[in-house]
Amino acid sequence: MRKIIIAIDGFSSTGKSTVAKQLANKLHYIYVDTGAMYRAVTLYAMQKGFISNEFFYKDDFILNLQHINLEFKFNDKLGYAEVHLNGINVETKIRSLEVSNLVSKVSEISEVRKKLVEQQQQMGIHKGIVMDGRDIGTVVFPDAEVKLFMTASAEKRAKRRYDELIGKGDIVTYDEILENVIKRDHIDSTREDSPLVKADDAIVIDNSDLTLEEQFEKIYTIVIEKINN
Ligand code: DC
Repeated sequence: MRKIIIAIDGFSSTGKSTVAKQLANKLHYIYVDTGAMYRAVTLYAMQKGFISNEFFYKDDFILNLQHINLEFKFNDKLGYAEVHLNGINVETKIRSLEVSNLVSKVSEISEVRKKLVEQQQQMGIHKGIVMDGRDIGTVVFPDAEVKLFMTASAEKRAKRRYDELIGKGDIVTYDEILENVIKRDHIDSTREDSPLVKADDAIVIDNSDLTLEEQFEKIYTIVIEKINN
């Protein structure tokens, strides 16, 4: 079977990573969560004291980008690759609300985007990859064979993220998650460099009222048709 690139973009918490992982497992493709890369860079900025809710020493941070090394290492038990920041597994840490609240500020920096996009393009050089993010079909792989644009209502997405965080034992309220989702939608889609926009040739998947199974069936059919053509 010929190998292709599958680009999945969309707003936060639209279930991009769930379907991307399902596809990668079924097709034996590599799955890359680019949001995890922006989150890991944000965590680095927090840990080194470049950013907090009160300040952002942007110029100093940009000078330090060269010290950031990101890698994905496959976890057999989980069935997907986890992100490592300078050799340390940060998969859990990057999902906190603190990181979610600061990640948009870090991901709007062109120097950050340039560094991560280059690494992402390298990862797709042999195809056989499912990548999810905001600019995959528009900037990272404009020639991807399949482009999906996922969407769902802000309330549905906030509820999903709320359930996920509560399930992990985090203390958060639904209202603060909804506020974060709406704020990130706004920053992600209005930033100057690589805003979240649907590629002209992307297929829109609104999963507000789809079960996971229904969604997967729909997307898998699209992908297989493309592979066979
Ligand atoms: O997919 P996510 O919610 O984990 O992504 C976290 C943030 O990273 C999101 O608010 C926007 C940013 N991001 C981006 O700018 N470009 C990408 N390709 C992926 C994520």
